Amino acid sequence: MKRLTKNKTLITGASGLLGLELVRCAVKSGHNVVGVYNANPNLTDKNYRNLKCDIGDTRSVNLLDKKVGKIDMLFHCASMTGVDKCEKNREACWQANVVGTRNMVELAKKHRAKLVYVSTGSVFSGEKGNYKENDAPDPKNFYSWTKLLGEEAVLAYNKGIVIRAVPIGIHGIGRPQSNFIEWLVDSISSNRSFNLFNDVNINAISAETFAGILLKVPKVFKKGVLHIGSKDRLSKAEIGQAVISKFPNFSGEAKLISVENMPGNFAARPKEMWFNTNKATKLGLKMPNLKNELELILKVIAKK
Ligand SMILES: NC(=O)c1ccc[n+]([C@@H]2O[C@H](COP(=O)([O-])OP(=O)(O)OC[C@H]3O[C@@H](n4cnc5c(N)ncnc54)[C@H](OP(=O)(O)O)[C@@H]3O)[C@@H](O)[C@H]2O)c1
Repeated sequence: MKRLTKNKTLITGASGLLGLELVRCAVKSGHNVVGVYNANPNLTDKNYRNLKCDIGDTRSVNLLDKKVGKIDMLFHCASMTGVDKCEKNREACWQANVVGTRNMVELAKKHRAKLVYVSTGSVFSGEKGNYKENDAPDPKNFYSWTKLLGEEAVLAYNKGIVIRAVPIGIHGIGRPQSNFIEWLVDSISSNRSFNLFNDVNINAISAETFAGILLKVPKVFKKGVLHIGSKDRLSKAEIGQAVISKFPNFSGEAKLISVENMPGNFAARPKEMWFNTNKATKLGLKMPNLKNELELILKVIAKK
């Protein structure tokens, strides 16, 4: 079995929106990176070293451990992410998000590695917004519960950092409909009509900007919870309309509705999914502006 060299940064979710950006950004910053994917090797960057592992499966994690050797830093971005998918496939979601995160904590502990875990703004109920790190979480759906249980496992480790954020963007290699922006672009380009929530507000951050900030976190923050996001916020409807404006030939209808009136079997979502980022700013981390973040993403969409 081929062993890699020393001082390694392990990045889970290397085939996902954020993990792929983080792999690329970490390599550019001089990290010796090993990316981890599970079902989608085609969505990893082939220029870099990526290994397969199902993080919810102990045997698979042990194999990964043997292949990688010493780990110094672990950025844990892998997760089952679709809120409705998680609601319908609770066992798989539990295995990936709770068991998988516990396994990543054990792996980090074994190597005395710093661990940065990416959680979500939806651990809060979404009733008031402007959430601070020490506000009490109150998840509204199964996905958010599993992310919160992941947080608890990470915080029990003395080198564990929990980052709450809402990353958005288009996957760097390309895939259909996996997240909000990809779903939007897919629906618009196929002229499908859809609903947009006008009462769900987020201070999202582009995966690209977020990756750059994430790499700085372990240098300025040792342990605990940190909120990372844009300084301002927009509703999902406002974001949707900005994306639609890039597609002048779109002939479908984008209906603005309340998240409470979403038809069909739809998991509950928090409305005010934006949080206070003062703690990160005080640590010297520069939070972006969401309108600029959106411009960045729209430029990527325009190029496709
Ligand atoms: N995007 C959002 O809207 C959003 C909002 C808030 C928070 N977050 C958090 O941000 C982080 C990154 O999200 P993202 O948007 O980049 O997710 P994503 O694009 O859906 O990617 C998920 C990644 O997790 C991997 N994964 C899933 N199950 C796995 C398993 N059992 N073993 C190993 N890997 C597994 C996937 O690998 P394969 O595809 O290879 O199977 C993929 O690389 C997650 O922690 C998520 O909870 C995301």
